[in-house]
Amino acid sequence: MKLNIAVLPGDGIGPEVTAQAVKVLKAIAMEFDHVFTFNTGLVGAAAIDNTGNPLPEETIGICENADAILFGAIGDTKYDVDPNAEVRPEQGLLGLRKVLDLYANIRPVIAYEDLLNKSSLKKKQIEDTNILIYRELTSGIYFGEKTISEDGNKASDICEYTRFEIERVAHLAFKAAQSRKRRLALVDKANVLVSSRLWRKIVQELAPKYPDVSVDYLYIDNAAMELIINPRQFDVILTENMFGDILSEEASVIVGSIGLLASASIGEKHAMFEPIHGAYTKAANKGIANPIASILSAAMLLDHFDLHEEADLIRTGVDKSLKLHITTPDLNTKYNHITTTKVGDFIEDFINNPDETNLNFTNIHLGQSTII
Ligand code: IPM
Ligand code: MG
Repeated sequence: MKLNIAVLPGDGIGPEVTAQAVKVLKAIAMEFDHVFTFNTGLVGAAAIDNTGNPLPEETIGICENADAILFGAIGDTKYDVDPNAEVRPEQGLLGLRKVLDLYANIRPVIAYEDLLNKSSLKKKQIEDTNILIYRELTSGIYFGEKTISEDGNKASDICEYTRFEIERVAHLAFKAAQSRKRRLALVDKANVLVSSRLWRKIVQELAPKYPDVSVDYLYIDNAAMELIINPRQFDVILTENMFGDILSEEASVIVGSIGLLASASIGEKHAMFEPIHGAYTKAANKGIANPIASILSAAMLLDHFDLHEEADLIRTGVDKSLKLHITTPDLNTKYNHITTTKVGDFIEDFINNPDETNLNFTNIHLGQSTII
């Protein structure tokens, strides 16, 4: 298969982790005789520094012409400490989601057997957790009208949803539930917010079209607690933009590190794949950033084009790296010299020689800087 992939490394640890995902995709292309071409674009603080614009026209063009986009991370602490900054890196990511109409953000949360003891939660609470979060991504409070009074003492963000916006992501979530454990939980705040009541009404209307799916309705405050107390009860979670942002980051506690959570952002015409973690500027260029979320995002990219065997090979490589403790320090209490690049090298190497990886494991633990 020929795929033209736009690569937007972005800020902070974005470039380091994305480089590992690209490396892994190149290995897949070699192994399976695909032709993947990569075009890199600027976005976020990196784009502001170069062009003054967090989402340059050139980058939009690269993405519009691509089959898929691999996104790194966005944000820079210098903007976080300045609430008056009018141009912000995040506008690059939000703009891209809107321009490309990437309305469904899909975030898998899987408790890996080998990492159960890495979570701050108890093993027996989290084992066998396998959740798919469907987060609406192009509307709600993120994109509603924003106002600030002239004296700067009053501000508002409007949370607005239309039937169309709710229905399209809800259909995807119902369909996903049908191929899983056939359970859907709508998370909202319908006891307070009228926009949440519209979500509830529409999901109730759609439910009879999916008679094999059982639907639960939870308030966000309660869902935040249930997700920690008993995550196994969830199969597919459907929720609006901001609740999904918060809930998916909370869910990373179950997995042991936010450095493992991948995501796909899907629209009718375009698809973007990105780790859910941010730019983590403090960790940039130290070789300590976990590339697995980016590598698993590349696997989701392959799944999107029905390249499931290829995606599974990446996931098996990731599983193997976790089992052998070939992981960055966020997960590794055993060895402290495994860098971002080494994790990427190991998974690349696994794809090239799935049966001989143990040799390279020895190299890594001898502290050699390159893998043969
Ligand atoms: C995410 C991030 C973004 C969001 C930020 C960087 C704008 O937190 O993708 O979860 O809030 O959507
Ligand atoms: Mg977030």
